[in-house]
Amino acid sequence: MPAFRVTTPARAYDAVIERGILGRAGEFVPQNAGAVFVVTTEDVWNLHGARLRASLEAPNVLLFPGGETRKRLAQVEALADQMALAGADRTSIVIGFGGGIVTDLAGFLASIFMRGVPILQIPTTLLAQVDAAVGGKTGANLASAKNLIGTFHQPMAVLIDPDVIATLSDREYRAGLQEIVKCGVIQDPDLFAAFETGRERVLNRDPALLDELIAGAVRIKADVVSRDEKESDLRRILNFGHTIGHALEAETSYSRFLHGEAVAFGMVAATRLAVTSAGLDAHDARRIITTVRNYGPIPPVDDIVPARLFNRLSSDKKTLHGNVHFVLPEQIGAVRIVTGIPEQAVLDAIDWTIASYSTARAMA
Ligand code: GLY
Repeated sequence: MPAFRVTTPARAYDAVIERGILGRAGEFVPQNAGAVFVVTTEDVWNLHGARLRASLEAPNVLLFPGGETRKRLAQVEALADQMALAGADRTSIVIGFGGGIVTDLAGFLASIFMRGVPILQIPTTLLAQVDAAVGGKTGANLASAKNLIGTFHQPMAVLIDPDVIATLSDREYRAGLQEIVKCGVIQDPDLFAAFETGRERVLNRDPALLDELIAGAVRIKADVVSRDEKESDLRRILNFGHTIGHALEAETSYSRFLHGEAVAFGMVAATRLAVTSAGLDAHDARRIITTVRNYGPIPPVDDIVPARLFNRLSSDKKTLHGNVHFVLPEQIGAVRIVTGIPEQAVLDAIDWTIASYSTARAMA
């Protein structure tokens, strides 16, 4: 199975994709490491903890209650306190074992505990495997906006075990697929086309195809992060669908949408916007929107007020000097960053997206 090298000024490491690698996690813990602290949730630990525990020497397990609303600084402090009380020191290492919320929060914890201890990321949701756990972004939410506090803290390695995907709910699985569709739109027409031609196999979690999809997304992520770790330029393309997606998550108090579902909404809105503001032709726009929608559904959006979403865009990290940046497709496989889009065009795209999801719901 493939391993993709991420090379940043801070650290070089592999994102390894291998069925069963969970049972070999101990091999990735340095011989001279001190105590191991596994940050996880109860459900993940109950499902997969035994295999991880068997490969480690007496790990300390720190349970995080989970959920986007609890991805807050107070939780990081509580976990740090638990580490301190258990005698952690600078030789300790953290393992982030869970979905994107856990890997983000565990990464944040590792980056600030005693000014930084190493982290090994073992993502257990599709979304975390193809996006959140690779690339060193860590963070917590503020009430006003998502991931507004955080650090860059590259892991020692990312261990991606596609076997764990079997236990994901259909909803979690579909939400994760959206981040792979994103990778296809931004850089890889063949990866995108696999979603058009293989819907049944994809939704049935066909192992061979799933492994290929995961590898396709991780390859892109590893390459983009290696070329622009701190998101000064190229890495921004990974935010396709996230500008409006993050606003939707904040607007619904992080409690209605899974991240990938909000990104799906954001990708449809950005694609619509790309037709008017980035020269995307109607045929490619239809292909993107149809594919994103084919891997839905998402929770209701009928009550979303476009002007309120628009107002939230200014508190997003992607807003610089008050200018909202959008990642817009020019064609399938190529995107560009566009600023200065008139407010009315953004409102129209959001309005259109709400209407399209509401119509589909009414027809279902
Ligand atoms: N999720 C986008 C990034 O890691 O840059």
